[in-house]
Amino acid sequence: MIDDIVDEDGTLKEIVPHMVKDRTFGRYVDIFLSNGVNLPDWIIQKAERQPEVNFYDLGCGFGCSAEDFFQVLERRLITKRKDPEILDRITYTGIDYFIKSFTVIDDPRISFIASTDLRRLAKAKIKPIDIGVMVFVFPYLDKKLEALAGAYKHLRTGDEEYEGGTLMVTDFRTRQLKASADRNFGDAQWLGPLSPYSVIQGDRSVLKFHKDVLRLDSGYASVVPLPYLNFQDEETRWYRTGPKGLYAGQKISVYLAAH
Ligand SMILES: C[S@@+](CC[C@H](N)C(=O)[O-])C[C@H]1O[C@@H](n2cnc3c(N)ncnc32)[C@H](O)[C@@H]1O
Repeated sequence: MIDDIVDEDGTLKEIVPHMVKDRTFGRYVDIFLSNGVNLPDWIIQKAERQPEVNFYDLGCGFGCSAEDFFQVLERRLITKRKDPEILDRITYTGIDYFIKSFTVIDDPRISFIASTDLRRLAKAKIKPIDIGVMVFVFPYLDKKLEALAGAYKHLRTGDEEYEGGTLMVTDFRTRQLKASADRNFGDAQWLGPLSPYSVIQGDRSVLKFHKDVLRLDSGYASVVPLPYLNFQDEETRWYRTGPKGLYAGQKISVYLAAH
């Protein structure tokens, strides 16, 4: 694998935009639990309260999370002595841009959408998002705020029948967003921090955090990205054995500071 991306002399051919094997849904559940979020219970409770729940894995990779998605939920329902029939109200949709072929699963509740760029998600035609997750995707996006704004636009709007939708983004760190007062910031390493709250217009309580999980709830707000300037690579040193550095291969998005 590493020979595909690193030349003989150890220099990098390209940054790998995806992993060779993605996480299963069971692994997602562990990640969310370690951040204090019980994902299966959240999905199940929504399915008990509304006619349909559209779950989205945004940046799903090959879609391995679809392989055990319904099994994990079914096990949880059985443990809680609840009727597994409500699973038929739930759909799973995986979206990725770089991966073109997904794991094959013969289940009408599961589908994938290829060639869809999360940075331009606002323009995509998709069913409303009840629960959307981005697992280990945010660090790799250059236009992080555009992806947040795009997903927010598709969150289901609450009404008498449905609750509003929620987006949950793992691996959020404040260092991933920076602001420059100058359009031509060049290679300057010093840039001001940028709070994700700066893009929320209206009710700011739609944005909250569960440790490293950024959560956006549908509500009386709009998410308006600042003008995008460029990205910086997180510090990475590349060796024959692979990338080294705490945030190797990840990106920092730089936006024009609001005046
Ligand atoms: C590190 S992988 C994580 C995959 C999976 N979510 C997991 O946790 O195992 C990051 C994924 O994000 C996808 N990705 C990166 N940038 C994207 C974009 N702009 N639009 C859609 N998908 C993107 C990559 O193709 C890759 O599959």
